[in-house]
Amino acid sequence: MSRIITEQDRKRKETAKEHGKCMMTRRQFMMYSGAAAISASTVSISLYPGTADAKNMKARVVGYPRKKIAALGDFKDNEPIDFNYPDDGPNSSCMAVKLGGVRAGGGVGEQRDIVSFSYLCTHQGGPLQGSYKVVGDQRILGQCPLHLSTYDMRRHGIIVSGQAYESLPQVLLEIDGDDVYAVGLMGLLFGRDSNL
Ligand code: FES
Repeated sequence: MSRIITEQDRKRKETAKEHGKCMMTRRQFMMYSGAAAISASTVSISLYPGTADAKNMKARVVGYPRKKIAALGDFKDNEPIDFNYPDDGPNSSCMAVKLGGVRAGGGVGEQRDIVSFSYLCTHQGGPLQGSYKVVGDQRILGQCPLHLSTYDMRRHGIIVSGQAYESLPQVLLEIDGDDVYAVGLMGLLFGRDSNL
């Protein structure tokens, strides 16, 4: 799994070069995240092909849930909104925030400045609640209280400094009417072997 995450980070860096400020297009973001807006679907699969027991079956494929975070009007500049995603299980603490007009990779809204991330540091799971900072044009989550990692929220949560070596998992957002929804995750939540 760690090899896959490393490959994801490499793609993020390539995209950052292409877009100068790491502004991944929405289409790239969707393709990269592999997020499913549909919560579940049914597909046909073949079991034991080429054997006497070969048979076709229907399988249920579960994707990320679609969860309302808040109404657009609830977002105030630089004031994080906390929620859990993709479930209420361990290590599901997340935050969404409007970066005060600073456009961000994966951002939604008129100014593309609403983004969302996991609250768990990718190093050893340190809690990042309360660590959101505005430093000029920078928008930072950190320092992690355990080993001081910080993450850039404008650039898909890449590491700015510290002990971590993986980007912070980013929650894929969509706007539907006046509401903001979480619909997927880019990156593996700390402490889990699967997000779902
Ligand atoms: S747990 Fe966050 S830097 Fe180590």
